[in-house]
Amino acid sequence: MKVTYHGHSVIEIQTEKHNIWIDPFISGNKLCDVEADQVNPDVILLTHGHGDHVGDTFEIAKRTNALVVAPNELANYIASKGIDSHPMHIGGGYQFEWGYVKLTQAFHGSSYTEEDGTIIYTGMPAGLLFTAEGKTIYHAGDTALFSDMKLIGERNKVDVAFLPIGDNFTMGPEDALTAAEWINAGLTVPIHYNTFPIIKQDPNDFVSRLNVKGKVMEPGEALEL
Ligand code: NI
Ligand code: MN
Repeated sequence: MKVTYHGHSVIEIQTEKHNIWIDPFISGNKLCDVEADQVNPDVILLTHGHGDHVGDTFEIAKRTNALVVAPNELANYIASKGIDSHPMHIGGGYQFEWGYVKLTQAFHGSSYTEEDGTIIYTGMPAGLLFTAEGKTIYHAGDTALFSDMKLIGERNKVDVAFLPIGDNFTMGPEDALTAAEWINAGLTVPIHYNTFPIIKQDPNDFVSRLNVKGKVMEPGEALEL
């Protein structure tokens, strides 16, 4: 499979037959290397309801008929807008035709702000484990460091872990170094930094301090797994 980073927390997974996007925040994401009307996912996975994660989900899903997989309350909200969605919840896994998804805990918030400013609370935020073609990706979503990341590392052979390092809203680099050690992925990739001034970080410094293998991915850069 081919795994491409598109800036912020946006990850694209291309398997043999499916195009899967995680947290497609494209419009308004100054780091993103693509336009929202150029992407053609058949699946969108969402970690939580914040605008910098839901991003262009509504427009994309309406155009491509992508299935949106999200924590239950967020999935129900998305379904209320006429979009095909699959609700899940933390600790639950499901084998889809295109891969296995398990939601993990994340310590954060989850709400969606509509165009008129109405705030809709969208339940619990999550991280996710995605497995297809024998490879497992952990996308931590937005989260603090939590000690059960040790369990994620012990119980899963994670090939690539995408961990937030931006600080302020999520783990900063110091906590993410510990997270990376606990998750012990084959490759650790920092995300959720430098999109906004408040989450400015040096990803190269982070990677240089890792005790596990790491890599800074530039927007548009891909890994072959
Ligand atoms: Ni968030
Ligand atoms: Mn965020």
